[in-house]
Amino acid sequence: MTKELSSVPWWKKGVIYQIYPRSFMDSNNDGIGDIKGIISKLDYLNDGTPNSLGVDAIWISPIYKSPMKDFGYDISDYQDIDNIFGNIDDFKLLLQEAHKRNIKVIMDLVINHTSDEHPWFIEARKSKNNPKRDWYIWHDNKGKRPSNWVASFEMKNAWWLDEKTNQYYLGTFTRHQPELNWRNPELKEAVYDMIRHWLDMGVDGFRMDVVNWYIKDDQYRNNPWKLSFNPIDVQRHIYDRNRPETHDICKEIRAITDKYADRMLVGEIYANDAREAVSYHGVENDELHMAFNFSFLFQRWSASGFYNNIMEYYNLLPEDAWPNFTLSNHDQPRHYSRYREGEYTDAKAKVAAAMLLTLKGTPFIYYGEEIGMASEKIAKKDIQDPLGKKGWPIIKGRDDARTPMQWDGSEHAGFSDHLPWLRVNSDYKHKNVSVQSKEEYSLLNFYKKLIWLRKVSNALSAGDIEFLIKEPDNVLVYKRTFSNEEVIVVLNFTRSKQTVNLDKEGKVLLGTHRYDGERVSLNKWKIYPLEVLILKKISSV
Ligand code: GLC
Ligand code: CA
Repeated sequence: MTKELSSVPWWKKGVIYQIYPRSFMDSNNDGIGDIKGIISKLDYLNDGTPNSLGVDAIWISPIYKSPMKDFGYDISDYQDIDNIFGNIDDFKLLLQEAHKRNIKVIMDLVINHTSDEHPWFIEARKSKNNPKRDWYIWHDNKGKRPSNWVASFEMKNAWWLDEKTNQYYLGTFTRHQPELNWRNPELKEAVYDMIRHWLDMGVDGFRMDVVNWYIKDDQYRNNPWKLSFNPIDVQRHIYDRNRPETHDICKEIRAITDKYADRMLVGEIYANDAREAVSYHGVENDELHMAFNFSFLFQRWSASGFYNNIMEYYNLLPEDAWPNFTLSNHDQPRHYSRYREGEYTDAKAKVAAAMLLTLKGTPFIYYGEEIGMASEKIAKKDIQDPLGKKGWPIIKGRDDARTPMQWDGSEHAGFSDHLPWLRVNSDYKHKNVSVQSKEEYSLLNFYKKLIWLRKVSNALSAGDIEFLIKEPDNVLVYKRTFSNEEVIVVLNFTRSKQTVNLDKEGKVLLGTHRYDGERVSLNKWKIYPLEVLILKKISSV
């Protein structure tokens, strides 16, 4: 059967790049990244030639007006841009300049909660009968907290007493992030209008924050406690999250989005059970286009581990749902550090990148991973993240994954002339975009080659996948096919030579140890330690 690539939507074939805006590029030298900074780096992201990274979309973490108690994940005006990032005209210019370069723009949609400084909440807390009261979740003060639910970033009960009206409101992140009441029809309409507003402006989609939190049990029943070494994971979230009614909201948002051409919704569903996350594709594929697959964030380094992880995920996905993969994001330590192993780290980062960019599924790249940015320890006194400020010994917060992008070797890594809001990693002098652009075999150039190779290979961007070695110990080998194009990917996860024995021949498209165009037969073939080898099957060359 011949398939047409043009019928495959952009978000399936494309590569999505996450920008943490505070840390990407500072245009006005106040030490904080901003929209104009992002615009100045669009050519780096995709100038239409293989000299650039070549990404197809950017997802920007929140840039709306915010008191920044959770660095933008606490919004006080959904239709305005925070002035530390710029203004609405800057944002419109960003849309225009990105679209000119065929880069889609995905915004973060944080609608489980607002900031306590949002006018809706300021109104709501004025009195019990204020028209906006029911837009949030309130409960009478009967001498004890309404339930045992926990505020993740405060490690305290999630019900906060509003002294003036003597009722509790719910805030399951910090007390400054009151939860919206998704059972209120007016609230829903207000949020849906806001969604339309951004879609009308030309935004290409949304990354939806904590989707499975939207609806809470209407009787506020207690969650069962569970034993855990992680202080933010001490309950089974049966009643404060993962409620079935949330799926109805996703369907409604999808229906709104479907009225516009080519838009995409990807949801953050942070749950212990991967089945919960994939369920947000919808039984009829009528909810989110994608639900984030976070399993790589917690996967240890081994071919068999990754194999099991990938197969489990593929098998869980509902029919017709499209997969996705993420190695790093703004909430977890960067994978360059998670997989660090002395002199082997760069080679491992290349194996990881090749896997991310050649598996079947949309790859999400986190800014800086293309140059191997690390998660370095942040001194206690410098911690900014509310989660890290609590002083819990094992919770260090998320700052180490949010340090400024390392553009060059000048002071503050070319990110700003001013002391940045969070310190630059100590390795920036030799690890930066400028240095790696000039080194032929750098990690950055490897990312570029992989991404540009995907663009010319329908098999890699949109094809089916089949693992050629089942239950592997050391080496992953899979083939991607689209119509009559076949590409074979070989990844050695070990520090020793391995032998593969497959009746396959091909020409090298890209590899770490072989010349492009070299002919390779995988029959008793020795592969180098941590080698990446991507072949095009001979018959289809
Ligand atoms: C999500 C975001 C995280 C934020 C939280 C609260 O988990 O990824 O950064 O702190 O939601 O909005
Ligand atoms: Ca700035």
